[in-house]
Amino acid sequence: MTSTNGQWRGLIEEYRELLDIPAGTPAITLGEGGTPLVRSEWLSGVTGGEVWIKVEGANPTGSFKDRGMTAAISVAVHEGAKAVVCASTGNTSASMAAYAAKAGISPIVLVPDGKISASKMAQALVHGGQVIRVRGNFDDCLRLSRGLAENYPVALVNSVNPVRLEGQKTASFEIVDRLGDAPDFHLLPVGNAGNISAYWLGYVQYKDAGRATKTPVMRAFQAAGAAPLVLGHPVENPETRATAIRIGNPASWKLAEAARDASGGRFKALSDEQILSAQAQLARNDGIFVEPASAAGVAGLLDDVAAGDEIAKAYAGKVTVITVTGHGLKDTITALEFFGEIPDIVVDADIDAAAAAAGLI
Ligand code: F0G
Repeated sequence: MTSTNGQWRGLIEEYRELLDIPAGTPAITLGEGGTPLVRSEWLSGVTGGEVWIKVEGANPTGSFKDRGMTAAISVAVHEGAKAVVCASTGNTSASMAAYAAKAGISPIVLVPDGKISASKMAQALVHGGQVIRVRGNFDDCLRLSRGLAENYPVALVNSVNPVRLEGQKTASFEIVDRLGDAPDFHLLPVGNAGNISAYWLGYVQYKDAGRATKTPVMRAFQAAGAAPLVLGHPVENPETRATAIRIGNPASWKLAEAARDASGGRFKALSDEQILSAQAQLARNDGIFVEPASAAGVAGLLDDVAAGDEIAKAYAGKVTVITVTGHGLKDTITALEFFGEIPDIVVDADIDAAAAAAGLI
């Protein structure tokens, strides 16, 4: 991997020759990509295999969206855009607003009213996003977002814009570059289905280029209340505490199904309880704090293993990568609500009192 004095240059400069973006596109970067791939002793033990966590919350705005956004905003600016628009459950809008700020163009954000976390709303606003709250869900917002881009001089940067997938596929490159080959299994959450499509694109490209000997089986997970890909039909009123993946009609439906089929993978639904429990277990066992939606891949692995069937056994002796998509600080309200009740003990500023409260004496 090339770099400048050991400094990661952002994914466009690191991987430019592998990205299908116009020649000469100037990189608008916040240094995204190059995220940690951390071995999970806990999950390696649970599966009897080797399990690695790709920590995408380490991106500049705290989610994997920055990979797609550096590409989408760079190309939009190269093509002369002065304003960009997206629909979002919160992370895309946070990322778009940051990269638009860096580029000096206007970000317009459409979000489902009352359904995005306060931290993500703060990110969009602080970066100067024009936030429009919509009475409706993400799918309604995406319809409006497409309509605005068709009728007004604003560029659409949702993942229906293929340039987004070009940026996001670099996560697969990084995994193969780090492990020396593609993993046997790749697990991740699915919402609008752009990310699974991008990962698959990246893995196939690396295999075709001879940089990997294989492609992984893609296993993707949705929240039970928002599981159109599992059910095989759109969900009109999606509901889940994992608000980032509260989506009923994913835009990249066909691409995600193609990735599943070509890789021999599958989609599976998980309860909110399973997802939130996996979030807490990952934080306590591995020291990695992710937002609820991001824990779906971990919850999926635990669910697969609990089944004790052929799928459970398949992980033994194999290499599995799980993408955790966004940082836990993205939604501390849900985290505190479920696990972190702030203790109702206050002590005087005294060592003995602190020791007693900590159970040390
Ligand atoms: N995890 C997180 C934290 C997300 O924010 C998203 C999507 C996903 C997983 C699912 O990825 O849509 O590519 O299948 N968030 C979008 C947004 C919809 O607006 O921030 P996907």
